[in-house]
Amino acid sequence: MHYRLLDYLACPIDHAFPLALEPESLRDSDTIQEGHLRCPQCSRDFPITQGIPRLLPDDLLSDSETAREFQDKRTEMKTRDEQVDIYLKNTGLKWLTRIEVPRTFAALDLSQDDFLLEAGCGIGRMTALVAPKARETVGIDISFGSVRRNWERLPEAVRAKAHLIQADLSHIPLRGGLFTRALSSQVLEHIPTHESRARAIDEIGRALAPGARFVLSAYQHSLLFRLFGQKEGFHPGGLHFYRFTAGEFKELLSRRFHVHSLIGILAYLHFAACVRKG
Ligand SMILES: C[S@@+](CC[C@H](N)C(=O)[O-])C[C@H]1O[C@@H](n2cnc3c(N)ncnc32)[C@H](O)[C@@H]1O
Ligand SMILES: [Zn+2]
Repeated sequence: MHYRLLDYLACPIDHAFPLALEPESLRDSDTIQEGHLRCPQCSRDFPITQGIPRLLPDDLLSDSETAREFQDKRTEMKTRDEQVDIYLKNTGLKWLTRIEVPRTFAALDLSQDDFLLEAGCGIGRMTALVAPKARETVGIDISFGSVRRNWERLPEAVRAKAHLIQADLSHIPLRGGLFTRALSSQVLEHIPTHESRARAIDEIGRALAPGARFVLSAYQHSLLFRLFGQKEGFHPGGLHFYRFTAGEFKELLSRRFHVHSLIGILAYLHFAACVRKG
């Protein structure tokens, strides 16, 4: 973790900032491998492990019986950790990538002035491509293994202007209004309840400045899936998914964004370009 990330971090629960870095001896370091971040308001302690700050809400850290949202999110964390070696080998994903990446680039229209938030960065299918185009990029993902692998895959020059965090999109540990661009590719469908997805959209909206652009993709409940698939269910490993109708997707995004374009990709994804409401 770069020391300057402290300028952007906030408590995932109450959004208080700045977080205090501990032990104090680390306060002279440019990069931090192990340590703690303490919230000045609720006094929660968040670890930094192997250079990754881990700012998760309490319910994701305990094994106790909790609401379905947290049980599904804990499974997501565990299964994504286990799948870091196989994720990019998926043939369908390779085909989607050929269409999704150029569209994402065109819609994001990044410049070296942009602060980019990558919401659900995974092992970095997109990160290494987009981060060089922006001034700074903050990637967040619920899976520690994915974030670690993403960091390992980034070239040294890109690492210098990138930050990766383990966090839940429904509780984003960043100050509000910082970012000029956000990207989220194939993530929203894996957030388990409507309330939790709505909170994630509110949180991405909060992190962005008014007028900032948000480009995203998510599962589409197209005719193909109406006939042969499920609207909601679990992939192998217990990964929750939810397929959105165009109306549902637009309604969800409209909480915080003007939806400027919404198209389908291969009857599988919605692809949307939005602007944060002022
Ligand atoms: C299908 S992968 C997409 C990864 C990457 N965006 C890409 O395009 O390759 C979904 C990612 O969303 C992450 N994810 C799921 N639920 C999340 C949540 N509540 N908060 C943050 N990340 C989440 C998973 O850990 C996983 O890395
Ligand atoms: Zn706090």
